[in-house]
Amino acid sequence: MNEEKKLWGGRFTGAADENFVRFNRSFGFDWRLFAADISGCLAHCEGLRRAAVLTPDEADEIQAGLNKLLEQSAKDQNFFADSSAEDVHSFIESRLIEIVGDAGRKLHTGRSRNDQVATALRLWLREKTDELADELRDAQKSLVDLAEKHQTAILPGYTHLQRAQPILFAHWCLSYFEMLKRDAARLSEVRKRINVLPLGAAALAGTAYPIDRRAVARDLGFEAISENSLDAVSDRDFAVEFAAAAALIMTHLSRLAEDVILYATTEFGFFELSDAISTGSSLMPQKKNPDSMELVRGKSGRVFGNLMALLTMLKGLPMAYNKDMQEDKEAVFDTFDTTRDCLRISATVLRNIKVREDAARSAAVKGYLNATELADYLSKKDVPFRAAHELAGKIVLYAIAEKVELNELDLSAMRKFSVKIEADVYDALSLEKTLETKNVTGGTAPKQVKKALRQARRFLSGKTAG
Ligand code: ARG
Repeated sequence: MNEEKKLWGGRFTGAADENFVRFNRSFGFDWRLFAADISGCLAHCEGLRRAAVLTPDEADEIQAGLNKLLEQSAKDQNFFADSSAEDVHSFIESRLIEIVGDAGRKLHTGRSRNDQVATALRLWLREKTDELADELRDAQKSLVDLAEKHQTAILPGYTHLQRAQPILFAHWCLSYFEMLKRDAARLSEVRKRINVLPLGAAALAGTAYPIDRRAVARDLGFEAISENSLDAVSDRDFAVEFAAAAALIMTHLSRLAEDVILYATTEFGFFELSDAISTGSSLMPQKKNPDSMELVRGKSGRVFGNLMALLTMLKGLPMAYNKDMQEDKEAVFDTFDTTRDCLRISATVLRNIKVREDAARSAAVKGYLNATELADYLSKKDVPFRAAHELAGKIVLYAIAEKVELNELDLSAMRKFSVKIEADVYDALSLEKTLETKNVTGGTAPKQVKKALRQARRFLSGKTAG
């Protein structure tokens, strides 16, 4: 292992406790910020060049060295393994000095690890936010694909997990599409607040060198620069917001997971999951388990935990930077990894669902899911809705006793409850009419769902904003 020289050794005479050194180190995880930190270093170097703090030759040398490190990291599998560096920032600085010598010792002029780490984390998270947005889109696409494949399929819709009213299967798919659409909009909001440059804040008070912060921001693609140096180095709101946006994504995926798991049971029988995303049992030969979706559902807990860890870590911190904030990395990394993986697996699962349209349709016509239609039918014949509801309820009770569905009752039997009921009631109670009548924007009428599907496609092709 390469023994790294400490960045801050001058003031110290005693040796550090071994356990504390290990405890204090973040390189074991923050090496993931390497490329982002190199970008930050390159831009800072350019800022120092513009401010004439570095000569053009020195700046060139440093930048060549930084690029060389980037190359090495891409080639060498053990690039990060073989170091005792305290964190990724000291790692880069000491490696740079190894390559370019004295010029490398000048890179840290006018900056602190405090504004450096905030910059690197923002750069990293900006990229990952874009990656998550891509994954969201892909999951949305798989929902729309599935919906289009089964445009006429019908599901029983539930409230309280009790059969309520029939819906189109595509309508169910599009409900998740909407959730993910909001998630994407939320991410792009978070991205704006991630995309602010802290560099130039130095340790806490602002850099003492005439660095053009706006130019550095431009070089790094930041839309704004931080307005207060204390806030710049101690703000991790963007990490919290990212975790909160991810927590909602996970909430949505966990609901999708639950529906899929439930609908794939023998009891429901609406879905069949392909072998590609299922597992067997070590004991029970007949089992085919939806582990994929169970893990998605379960992993939501990690992301919620990360959100809570970040909030708790920040709460009550005195101004400005505190080492507590080193704890942000693992929470943010794990939030990204978990959410990306879960989005990916969910999209894969959606591509591996077989909808058992017959079973779903039979379920949608059993259990009086058209009772509301009967009440509506009566209310259209001038029975006040409350009275119509009461009458329909009584007829349902009668049908239950007779062990038939509403549309299987004789007209004469129904007329005993109300003479307003006529032969056209059967049409009103039909599955087709039940769906057709929900002809309102956002409703499950086939016409509306078709329109919603078209809009969803347009959204995916980027022709509509969120
Ligand atoms: N590894 C540290 C972190 O993640 C970098 C900043 C350290 N700054 C300091 N003054 N100790 O927060």
